Amino acid sequence: MPATCVIGLQWGDEAKGKLVDLLTADFDVIVRYQGGANAGHTVVVDGQTYKLHLIPSGILNPAVKNVIAAGVVLNPETLLAEIEGLEKRGVAVQSNLLLSSRAHVVFPWHVEEDRLQSSRSVQGEQIGTTLRGIGPCYRDKVGRLYAVRLGDLGRADFRDIVARITAAKNDYFAAIRGSETSVPLDPDAIHAQYQQYAHRLQPLMVDSTAFLLDNAEAGKRILLEGAQGALLDIDHGTFPFVTSSNSSGVGVSSGSGLPGRWVERVLGVMKCYSTRVGGGPFPTEQDNETGAHIRKLGNEFGTTTGRPRRCGWFDAVAVRYSARLSGVDSLAVMMIDVLSELPEIKVCTAYEIDGERVTQFPAHADDLRRAKPVYESIAGWQKDVRNVRRLADLPSPARAYLDRLSELLQRPVGIVSVGPGREQTIIAHSDWDCLVERGLARRAN
Ligand code: GDP
Ligand code: IMO
Ligand code: MG
Repeated sequence: MPATCVIGLQWGDEAKGKLVDLLTADFDVIVRYQGGANAGHTVVVDGQTYKLHLIPSGILNPAVKNVIAAGVVLNPETLLAEIEGLEKRGVAVQSNLLLSSRAHVVFPWHVEEDRLQSSRSVQGEQIGTTLRGIGPCYRDKVGRLYAVRLGDLGRADFRDIVARITAAKNDYFAAIRGSETSVPLDPDAIHAQYQQYAHRLQPLMVDSTAFLLDNAEAGKRILLEGAQGALLDIDHGTFPFVTSSNSSGVGVSSGSGLPGRWVERVLGVMKCYSTRVGGGPFPTEQDNETGAHIRKLGNEFGTTTGRPRRCGWFDAVAVRYSARLSGVDSLAVMMIDVLSELPEIKVCTAYEIDGERVTQFPAHADDLRRAKPVYESIAGWQKDVRNVRRLADLPSPARAYLDRLSELLQRPVGIVSVGPGREQTIIAHSDWDCLVERGLARRAN
């Protein structure tokens, strides 16, 4: 049985965590394959909220294996804290988690570089990273000279590697810090600390590439959990206001090591409005009362950093692009409940750039910055939908909105979410009847 992917189609936080948790019971293996602890995936089960940063959102189901694959950048300290936090709450983590020995390791110097660079602007704006050292770690991975993989931590030459890298990083920091003084990195302390981490993580380390290929070839069901969203993709997103990995569907194979032939289904996850955390162009942003209303009802504050998320109307130009880029075959539309009180809802169907009407998502952030959204208005439903469990029971304007999104994106809506809980889910397409069979959702009609 080939693999299924869950990919965010906007700028992250589309509720991938909720969906992955929901789908987990139909799979044998759940995989995080890119990004790092910049991600914050929320799972709500029986009123309990779990915030996952590195550990796949399948971890609450003890019957599945969870894999952190080669394309992830992994901060051992964050991971150990996450494991401990979950185990304290009774979740069996150690027995169900595997870590790729190929995953690159985030060190204190990466976090420090992220911090030092955070006040700098590019194209007149700050990127506004999560300050988790993600960009600097990926940069060192590609540069190779100063990179360390998880499997290197237990090797005999690890002390020499740390000494060589800290010497180079101390020189670099001295050069870029300017008047700010700080204590140089201490190679012995870092070595000792990371050896301890290695000791604790060693039992979980595997060759995840071989493991996933073996599982795919043995017919196991694999669910790949994207982090961030397609519009933050390093190559195809709103560069330079992106993250440092391939967070659209195109990153699945490189990050996991599973070639595209194994990927059978791609579920694109999107909110029925837009949000963005950090800098970068956002044509449909509502920096006004409407945006504040959405932020309040959607509780749109970052899972990882707590920052208020910028909020705006749904952008069909952007999502049509990201759905095509990610090879999406069906859509999960989340947060329908958040728009319930609004009398009118807008959808951006085209941009006007320098007086010209455009439906192709621009490749340059500057063009996107100049894009004026062309909106279509849709009537609101102004009814509480949080307890609706069947498509037919949604108010007709809400169904019309879903139909219009599906039409604009040229893909069927498979799943609709009306709240954070597992049970607050509507199955809109027979492809996802597996959820109905397990009593997790009701059939459409
Ligand atoms: P992720 O990074 O894509 O996993 O998303 P986040 O966890 O960062 O943000 C999604 C937030 O929305 C979380 O707090 C979820 O609990 C919540 N959520 C998920 N689905 C729904 C929904 O349909 N309605 C509402 N109101 N909240 C939802
Ligand atoms: P999940 O998986 C939303 C954003 C940051 C910043 C940019 C670069 O929870 O959807 P980075 O720290 O990656 O170098 O920051 O990317 N960003 C996210 N925004 N959700 C995320 O993850 C994000 N991960 C990174 O806000 O704009
Ligand atoms: Mg998130």
